[in-house]
Amino acid sequence: MSVSDQPNSPRPLTVGLLGCGIVGSGVVQLLRDNAEDIAARLGASITVGPVAVRTSSRDRPVAVDRLTTDAQEVVDDPDVDIVCEVMGGIEPARSLIASALEQGKPVVTANKELISTLGGQLTELAVANGTRLDYEAAVAGGIPIIRPLRVSLAGDRVRRVLGILNGTTNYILTKMTEEGMDFGTALGEAQRLGYAERDPTADVEGFDAAQKAAIIASLAFDQRVVAGDVYREGITAITDTDIDLARRMGYVIKLLAIVEQRDDGAVGARVHPAMVPVHHPLASVRESFNAAFVEADGVGELMFYGPGAGSLPTASAVVGDLVAVSRTLLSEATPPRGSGPPQAVMAPFDDAVVQFSIRLAVADQPGVLAAVAGLFGEHEVSIKSVLQEGSADHAQLLLITHAARERNVQATLGALRELEVVRGVDSVIRVESSDSG
Ligand code: HSE
Repeated sequence: MSVSDQPNSPRPLTVGLLGCGIVGSGVVQLLRDNAEDIAARLGASITVGPVAVRTSSRDRPVAVDRLTTDAQEVVDDPDVDIVCEVMGGIEPARSLIASALEQGKPVVTANKELISTLGGQLTELAVANGTRLDYEAAVAGGIPIIRPLRVSLAGDRVRRVLGILNGTTNYILTKMTEEGMDFGTALGEAQRLGYAERDPTADVEGFDAAQKAAIIASLAFDQRVVAGDVYREGITAITDTDIDLARRMGYVIKLLAIVEQRDDGAVGARVHPAMVPVHHPLASVRESFNAAFVEADGVGELMFYGPGAGSLPTASAVVGDLVAVSRTLLSEATPPRGSGPPQAVMAPFDDAVVQFSIRLAVADQPGVLAAVAGLFGEHEVSIKSVLQEGSADHAQLLLITHAARERNVQATLGALRELEVVRGVDSVIRVESSDSG
């Protein structure tokens, strides 16, 4: 006898699906494959109701009974208890979600673009209408990170989160590092494997990671941070030489998303390539995997690791939210009312204290090192180590600094570019370590 056939068992809950692409198909599959287990855990079954798609003619990996091209019809359907948005993009997703929330229907979404720009307003709308908006799948695909930040760590104080939040760039950097693959070939492979966004600029220039960083920062520090608040650099300037030199010094290069809260409460959020010591847990995150390394006062260090994209991994996070929302509906618990978190006070990016690796092409002649080192000293940037490679016309200096203010390092770089004996600033990569200066 199934759960819903038992006497006095609650009525089945119906999910209206907006979108049935890679993630939506995974959601349908998981809800079907795990129907009995979910019903046993919940005490009621969750069924897939109407599904809105762009075109009803396309072949889909899963069969769906009720397809429609009218998404508003799904939202308005009186049988739909929960709206699940997996179509992506800002519009029409925003209007449909707003409409569902205004009707008091809970919404589960995987939409990082929307949540990282309008998540605060939509959450307020949910609260004002006595319902909820859940988005575990919007950050790092299948990795549970939203609920741990929102619920499990609610009694702790998070100081910093370091994330590898984009699978495409992690895959490219892994292939360049381990197989000597060139950037274009590695990107092509990532596209073929389905990791990359439709426009891979979003991946390789760090926009995707910045969206996820904004969502994590908002939750970690209870302040409203949007994608546009996040400083962003992509990986397109990283060369074989950078990777090789990093390896020889005991580092790997990763695209890191770093969010932190200063003692005065201001929030820093940045995405850029960084040299990570090989013994740091994030250095072992390879291929398209994602990870979030959380530093909090009570618990110390935590790392969440797993697949950051893909149909079933992302669907796993979506269905987890559907079950959580169903529990609220069945218990008739009212989500707390309130005004939501305040707008974040962002720390200016050039206030950040960061270590740098700087590679210079220089003239190989007496006094060059002294001139270069003098400029660092003048700008209060302390040098940790220097390595000279090559000679005559091919001399290169690799300098690693102690942690210094971003603005002082930028001023040093400006002055170095003016120095006659410096032929070029060939690369500037931030270094992630516990160095405090
Ligand atoms: N393009 C994204 C990535 C997919 O490479 O991680 C998941 O958001």
